[in-house]
Amino acid sequence: MKVDVLLGLQWGDEGKGKIVDVLTQRYDVVARFQGGPNAGHSLEFNQIKHVLHTIPSGIFHKDCLNIIGNGVVIDPVIFKKEIENIDAICGHIENLIISKKAHLITPTHRALDAAYEKSKGDSKIGSTLKGIGPTYTDKISRNGLRVGDILDHNFKEKYQALKLKHLNILKNYSHDFDIETYELDFFKALDSIRRFKLIDSEFEMNDYINQNRKILAEGAQGTLLDIDFGSYPFVTSSNTVTAGACIGLGIAPSKIGEVYGIFKAYCTRVGSGPFPTELFDHTGEELRRIGHEFGATTGRPRRCGWMDLVALKYAVMINGVTQLIMTKSDVLDSFETIKIATKYKVNGELTDRYNSVYDAQIEPIYQDFSGWKTDISKLSKWEELPTELTQYIQFIEKEVGVPITIVSVGPDREATLLKN
Ligand code: GDP
Ligand code: IMO
Ligand code: MG
Repeated sequence: MKVDVLLGLQWGDEGKGKIVDVLTQRYDVVARFQGGPNAGHSLEFNQIKHVLHTIPSGIFHKDCLNIIGNGVVIDPVIFKKEIENIDAICGHIENLIISKKAHLITPTHRALDAAYEKSKGDSKIGSTLKGIGPTYTDKISRNGLRVGDILDHNFKEKYQALKLKHLNILKNYSHDFDIETYELDFFKALDSIRRFKLIDSEFEMNDYINQNRKILAEGAQGTLLDIDFGSYPFVTSSNTVTAGACIGLGIAPSKIGEVYGIFKAYCTRVGSGPFPTELFDHTGEELRRIGHEFGATTGRPRRCGWMDLVALKYAVMINGVTQLIMTKSDVLDSFETIKIATKYKVNGELTDRYNSVYDAQIEPIYQDFSGWKTDISKLSKWEELPTELTQYIQFIEKEVGVPITIVSVGPDREATLLKN
């Protein structure tokens, strides 16, 4: 059985957590392949909202095995809190295993993240400051600490050596922080990682594939934040695209099955960087207000704008998306007119190629759609979707060339319409 992948097609926060939770009933295994606690994946059932940062969104289904793959970076302190919250809800959780090759975020990684951001001034990335960039930097420069290292008797020495390197860099940034407190928490939290089975997850993944078990790989962030294909340098530090699932889990490209690409019925972005369809007016404020567009990890207001078909087509191309999932459709319920950018005018020239160059003058060219002006949040069947929304869906499908098979109409598990 091949591995299906679910990932974001925009700038993150497309609703991945909610949809993975909904789809988990079809899968035996859910595996995260990249990112770390910069992610905030929300899911909701029984009127309670849960936000996960490192742990895969299949965790609330006891029969589903959840894997944190080698491509993920883990902050033990944040991980410990997540585990405690889930233990409190579900009882002692056991359906989680962690790759020994996943990298550890240390307190000085976080300090470096903050120091680098501060030094960038107005051109800051808008990082979540969870230490993601410096941790992946150490991975690539072969200085990092991995989960497997915590089993070694000389882990403390390895940790100290890395810390010293970081403190030397931090001196140049005159960045003050209380290392002692953070360090104490860090070492205490390592036990909450040791409690789980630590494995070389690439073997597990391939064994499950050979046993025909159904596996879903869960992406974090979104395609337009990918380190290679996003709006560099305003991106995250990992490959968020389908290819990242192969690297982050140890599976061959030929083992990828369905690729679920998830997008909001409009666009949001948190942090800095180009956002061609961003709205600075009342409409943008309304999208933020109705969509509760505030970050699940940092609480920052998200920038809001209309759907960008040029960017969506690009994301579908890079990821080889086979099915589309549209979320937050209900947020558009009250709008008279809804717009989709179908082309860009870049420096006076029309184009349908996504352009993430920071200083390019991009003018989106919009097509207008009539709003459906009705509450869709209580609908339970695809056939009940209002005509105007069906037209909106069909337009996107035709332009992108990929079917939309799930429409989400609210944050709860139940508010999900599946096409037959
Ligand atoms: P993720 O990072 O992709 O998992 O997305 P987030 O959890 O950061 O952000 C999505 C937000 O939208 C969360 O607050 C979800 O509860 C909420 N949400 C997800 N799907 C829908 C939907 O269809 N309608 C509405 N109104 N909210 C949704
Ligand atoms: P989920 O998985 C939205 C953004 C940050 C910043 C940039 C770099 O919940 O969709 P980093 O902390 O990685 O150094 O930040 O990427 N960012 C996200 N935006 N959703 C996320 O994750 C994000 N993870 C990082 O805001 O602009
Ligand atoms: Mg999120």
